[in-house]
Amino acid sequence: MATPEITSSVTPPPAGWAKRLPLDERLFLWLVLSSVVVMTGFVLGWLYLGKQNVPTNTRATAPGAFSAQVAAFAKRYGGPDGRVYVPPGTDAYMLASRFSWYPELVLQSGTRYRIWLSSADALHGFALVSENINLEVAPHHEMGAWITIGKPGRYLIVCNEYCGLHHQDMQGYIDVLSPAAMQTRLHAIAATKAGGGTAARPGAVGALRLHVVGNTLAFDKKTLVARPGRVTLTAANSSPIPHNIAIRGNGVKLEGAVVTNGGTSTVSAVLKPGVYTFYCAVPGHEAAGMRGTLTVKA
Ligand code: CUA
Repeated sequence: MATPEITSSVTPPPAGWAKRLPLDERLFLWLVLSSVVVMTGFVLGWLYLGKQNVPTNTRATAPGAFSAQVAAFAKRYGGPDGRVYVPPGTDAYMLASRFSWYPELVLQSGTRYRIWLSSADALHGFALVSENINLEVAPHHEMGAWITIGKPGRYLIVCNEYCGLHHQDMQGYIDVLSPAAMQTRLHAIAATKAGGGTAARPGAVGALRLHVVGNTLAFDKKTLVARPGRVTLTAANSSPIPHNIAIRGNGVKLEGAVVTNGGTSTVSAVLKPGVYTFYCAVPGHEAAGMRGTLTVKA
């Protein structure tokens, strides 16, 4: 049986056409392959040795619950200057909200702390300037970041997620003291607290009362009137977002403590007749509308 002759329009290549790649091509291939191996090794190695991975301690929370935790922590370890002195070995808490970090922490240098972070409202960023820490902070999630700061000093926290009109004003601080200075402060604070000095608040009797409206950036009143003499303003805040009450005008400038979650901020001053501004001094809040006029007249 004769094989039928096959015809093709393509001329087959001559014998010996498949040559080995020239040297430069082979060199290039090896360079590509070895750099893939090196870079893969670098990525995997960095995961374990780079010490710049996002914290894996995370849990679900709610803005109200987290804010209550922050308030309890701030009350327990708060010093007379309003900052919170965190004893070594204690977990710290910080709440991000438009447009502040609360509270201001004081840590001991060279000591490893776990700081729990969450947000009361929008997405924020926690970047500790000059340290290699840069985290995203979202509401309904809390994240425990381990932080060790070697040198005493004042460290700036900036927000690096756009969170609203005053995003650029959002900053906070962590102060770091040497172990000796920290221990002195902790003992002094413990002594004050043991001595029954539980914040003998200036009597808020007859005070002009304000309250923060829900979770908004607003007080319930825009105008207040008082007689000359000692004037006390209080602002109750039932929201998870930190606020305070402050007053300025005619040479007076005073700020009450920042409070959250059912706390009341108080400010008290002797005022002459005139027009004053009351406001919330948390960054961005006054501009957002948390302000009003206090008229003092006989
Ligand atoms: Cu918070 Cu930007």
